[in-house]
Amino acid sequence: MTPGVRPLIAGNWKMHGLAADGVALAQAVAAGAPGLKAELLICPPATLISPLAPVFAGAVALGGQDCHEAAKGAHTGDISAAMLKDAGAAYVVLGHSERRMAYRESSHRVCAKAEAALAAGLTPVVCVGEPEDDRLLGRAEEVVAEQMTESLPAGFGAAGGVVAYEPVWAIGTGRTPTEANIAAMHAMMRAKLSATFQAEGAGLRLLYGGSVKPGNAVAILAIPHVDGALIGGASLVAEDFLAIARAAG
Ligand code: PGA
Repeated sequence: MTPGVRPLIAGNWKMHGLAADGVALAQAVAAGAPGLKAELLICPPATLISPLAPVFAGAVALGGQDCHEAAKGAHTGDISAAMLKDAGAAYVVLGHSERRMAYRESSHRVCAKAEAALAAGLTPVVCVGEPEDDRLLGRAEEVVAEQMTESLPAGFGAAGGVVAYEPVWAIGTGRTPTEANIAAMHAMMRAKLSATFQAEGAGLRLLYGGSVKPGNAVAILAIPHVDGALIGGASLVAEDFLAIARAAG
């Protein structure tokens, strides 16, 4: 945790949730929100942002899972940052490894999307993280540093952007890096944010993501410069998500 920074506990529902079960899950999350130190964020499928806004009523923030880099235009199937904002989102997750891999999204494209998010008044949550090969070859920090250089636009620091470190091999696998590895990576990321965005970089939130569960959340959230978590699977169970949020203090 970084002193003076409010932790952010973010749930990425990915492609899970129809109206009925999404609203029920959101109601259970909202019921546990009062009194928590952490800010809660749920990124549901885009179809559920608008229906969940009254359920959360500001007690839990909403976010998209991706946006297009253009403000509008002929982009069948895509969604703009302004549309997400219009539906009730305050954040948008960008550059998740599932999108980097399935849609070959480059860091330069992620940067363009982050610029679009900032222009629309959304806070970007930019994901970075190394594939397992790079970790085994001892190149994890180098890969993540390069992703940060290429993915974070000017203006990211002033807008309070969020960076999530998500090792690709830890997502949905039940495996996590050692606490020492997370600590080293987050220290590098903090130094890089401070060098790039000066004083603003020192206060930006750095999340860890990848198989965060109630059982490992206390230890992970106690690591210096881990200011919250980005949670996939465990965010689909209200009690698990809230247990992780309580672990943030
Ligand atoms: P997981 O997913 O918590 O299911 O590992 C994390 C993520 O994809 O953000």
